[in-house]
Amino acid sequence: MAVYPTTAGLPALREAIAQWCERRFSVPAGWLDPARHVLPVNGTREALFSFVQTVAQRGADGLVVSPNPFYQIYEGAALLAGVQPHYLPCLASHGFNPDFDAVPAQVWQRCQILFLCSPGNPTGALIPLDTLKRLIALADEHDFVIAADECYSELYFDESAPPPGLLTACAELGRSDFKRCVVFHSLSKRSNLPGLRSGFVAGDADILKAFLLYRTYHGCAMPVQTQLASIAAWNDEAHVRANRDLYREKFDAVLNILSPVMDVQRPDGSFYLWPNVGGDDAAFCRELFEQQHVTVVPGSYLLARPMATTRVPGVCAWPWSHRWPSASKARSAFVNSSHAKSGNLPGSHDLCRASFQKRIINLEPKVISQAQPMPLA
Ligand SMILES: Cc1ncc(COP(=O)(O)O)c(C=O)c1O
Repeated sequence: MAVYPTTAGLPALREAIAQWCERRFSVPAGWLDPARHVLPVNGTREALFSFVQTVAQRGADGLVVSPNPFYQIYEGAALLAGVQPHYLPCLASHGFNPDFDAVPAQVWQRCQILFLCSPGNPTGALIPLDTLKRLIALADEHDFVIAADECYSELYFDESAPPPGLLTACAELGRSDFKRCVVFHSLSKRSNLPGLRSGFVAGDADILKAFLLYRTYHGCAMPVQTQLASIAAWNDEAHVRANRDLYREKFDAVLNILSPVMDVQRPDGSFYLWPNVGGDDAAFCRELFEQQHVTVVPGSYLLARPMATTRVPGVCAWPWSHRWPSASKARSAFVNSSHAKSGNLPGSHDLCRASFQKRIINLEPKVISQAQPMPLA
């Protein structure tokens, strides 16, 4: 307690993280040097933001390229670093991943940082391993950095098929220096520890050296007690499997209720539902709240302006409800809504989606089957 923690973190934490990466992403032993390839961060949100401040070159004709819809920090980080954000639409027709083959060479040429999010927030889509390898080749060709936000990587459904990550792609390509590749991981989702504020960044040693230097000014060393708790969490998979089991059960329960009436599929990973609500997504979310006191976020609010054709994102509906929303309520609101009545159901355009986030999935099945109105807080 009498000394400051170091920004680089305890060697034991970096060691535990490097070993977890080796186990989880089949990285050959010894490739990840804990001293050079790993940095603890206080959750990935601050790291995603500060990473862009370190890597982006203000004033150049650069771009920070990200999926659309996306986790809002990518855009804010780009704007505050003085670099223009550029968005790649994630359409249903392309499995809710960007169509990277359709990106013009001029965009790759101007790209400084490419954000990936797999499994994605909010669509839950996974980026296939082959695509990750192709993107690494593009990063080499056009000299940009890939920032892979993989904070949902441990929330998946098939225990026999954990999703690959950018480190898996590096391992398969024999890229032992992880050049131009950086991954972001968190205990917030994997271990259900968002309050701990603990994650890490791993990959290219030259980039992490600059990032570490930036962070010494930024003043964000992780408290030692958090580091010790994090070592225990990265070294244990039993609680992560138990967490996945619970999510699986909750997704099953919610999908049983919603899928007979809504166009909604189980995502590849993460804890979001991304149902097609037909017509006006904001109106649907408003009605759901007014009638049933269930808070969800309109999909169009998670989109950047160029794609939001029906609405521009304005005041954002707060996605993390403090009440217990219920899938039954969402179902009855949908069935009674003008969206269902108008017959404007599956197949309508990509914007008409709502993001049902963690809380709705967190319900116990018995709570889901109750459809009592909740008192407003
Ligand atoms: C895609 C994505 N990345 C990063 C974060 C940040 O998580 P944390 O800062 O808790 O690690 C979140 C949080 O919801 C997220 O959805």
